[in-house]
Amino acid sequence: MEAIILAGGFGTRLQPLTYTRAKALLPILNKPMITYLIESLPNEVDKVILAVNYRKDQIEEYFKKNSFGKEIIVNDEPEPLGTGGAVKFAEKHITAPFLVLNADVICSLSLDEMIRFHKKNNAVSTISLWPVKNVSEFGVVDIQKDGNVIDFVEKPKPEDAPSDLINAGAYFLEYDVLDYIEKGRLVSMEKEIFPQIINGTGKFFGFEFKGYWIDVGRIRSYIDVHMFLLKKQNIENFTGDNCKINGRLTNSSIGDNVLLGEDSHIISSIVFNNAIIGKNVSLTNCVVGENSKISDHSILTNTVVGDNETVKQNSTLENIVVWNQPIPEGYPKKQIGNVIGE
Ligand code: GTP
Repeated sequence: MEAIILAGGFGTRLQPLTYTRAKALLPILNKPMITYLIESLPNEVDKVILAVNYRKDQIEEYFKKNSFGKEIIVNDEPEPLGTGGAVKFAEKHITAPFLVLNADVICSLSLDEMIRFHKKNNAVSTISLWPVKNVSEFGVVDIQKDGNVIDFVEKPKPEDAPSDLINAGAYFLEYDVLDYIEKGRLVSMEKEIFPQIINGTGKFFGFEFKGYWIDVGRIRSYIDVHMFLLKKQNIENFTGDNCKINGRLTNSSIGDNVLLGEDSHIISSIVFNNAIIGKNVSLTNCVVGENSKISDHSILTNTVVGDNETVKQNSTLENIVVWNQPIPEGYPKKQIGNVIGE
């Protein structure tokens, strides 16, 4: 079976972390985000097509060095084609019903169960569904008792919402679905293709699952996914290799080769590889990028420091994004594709 992983987005809501790296490679407990997804694939998936564009060299490089017991094809789009366009662009590698998965979701979905559900219903498309409280920020499904989806309603008022279920970013699609997608242009699967399949076939199903679902789209959810996984694994902190920790860690994840000075305290924060945190530094709800330095006697709260940045001594920063380098050429100023509420 083939699985397409959508990993070509810019991840604009995760800037400045995504100025320097593909979102799919952002570390979660020091392991690239995309590896969680690859490890959750059913055994019968023997070919993984990575739909990439922005920072594709980094993704290619990572998969050259790391193998997962499956054939991995890096399928480079000439330009961002959106979630639908990227699926169409992978058509040459598809031979049968296939999975499509967003690379930026950490969840408890059993893909095996979703595929069984799809087959039982003789569906043309099945999408995973997750319940949310804030329906007015999402597209929610209008769904019948048997799981048949009859409509998508974009950002409804809570009182008008037909359900509280949203697209959770995993699909199982029959081969013929590819015929619905126009070649060579930006196409949104959710906005353009799914409504056509619903209207054209009436065999569009939704598979609701239980457990957890975290869309790692924003800095807040990036920190939250760490807090969640630390708790789930029953560990207080994660510390990478070759670190020198002289200060204290509370609910935090630290990459490899990190130095943490005396009297410093890192709370609910993520620190990437090779970062230097000086003496008497306090970090709370922060992310510190690779090779970055937080100098002595600084207090950072809700702050994101990009890769290769330095914060000077005695700084007090709150709700700040630290980025003093040029923004990469071609990086969009705002979200393209599916705009999701903040
Ligand atoms: P934002 O800019 O913050 O919205 O992030 P994003 O660009 O990643 O968009 P979004 O979160 O909506 O994308 C959902 C999934 O689809 C992610 O795994 C993206 O990598 C992927 N994706 C989005 N647009 C494209 C695209 O044009 N091509 C490919 N191949 N993947 C895409």
